[in-house]
Amino acid sequence: MGPPPPLKRVQHVGIRVHDLDAAVAFYTGVLGMTVSDRYDPGDNPHNPWGICFLRCGSGHHEISLIGFPKEANLQPSRVGLRGAAVGLHHVAFEAASREEFDRWAAHLRALGVEFVMGPVVHSPAHPEGDGTLGENRAVYFLDPSGNGIEIFCDLAEMDPGTNRVSEAWFRDRLRRDGHSPAAADPPPAWRPGVSSMAGARERSAAKKTAS
Ligand SMILES: [Fe+2]
Repeated sequence: MGPPPPLKRVQHVGIRVHDLDAAVAFYTGVLGMTVSDRYDPGDNPHNPWGICFLRCGSGHHEISLIGFPKEANLQPSRVGLRGAAVGLHHVAFEAASREEFDRWAAHLRALGVEFVMGPVVHSPAHPEGDGTLGENRAVYFLDPSGNGIEIFCDLAEMDPGTNRVSEAWFRDRLRRDGHSPAAADPPPAWRPGVSSMAGARERSAAKKTAS
């Protein structure tokens, strides 16, 4: 038989929330998701928690919000995205294009959503890049329970032969972002055992000394 083929993708995420009503209001009102099913804590004889299943498209759910009884007296997490903790760091939603990403950023600003980081281009090579890895354009904020949320676009396509960001994808993205396709080269492939940030501290220190 051999090992099974690779799994298809990550499809949904279950998130613990401190207040199911507040969470549902945020995921529907701010993120525009649709409720597929919902029950409250105490409704299900098998579980103490309540769940709201929400969808972006036609599948039943991309997010399940897990809410606990009021007696549990849960409070929002104050860890934020930079704090040390175990557990889920953030959930990322994809915008279909750069144009839609920009519209989402404007929509969030208009609703008064506070950005924890971004909008930013995660790239060590892109002319607008922040010098980090990830090869996408992203903005980060928190849900009412303090869970990290990201909206992104333009996640790099990988070349399976070289395990490097696809050169064709990289140059096309430069062009779409208004840069010359020759403005930069895709970042080098990760080498097992070598940090993808190898030399970054030294380069950053040299930059600071020069400026
Ligand atoms: Fe992310």
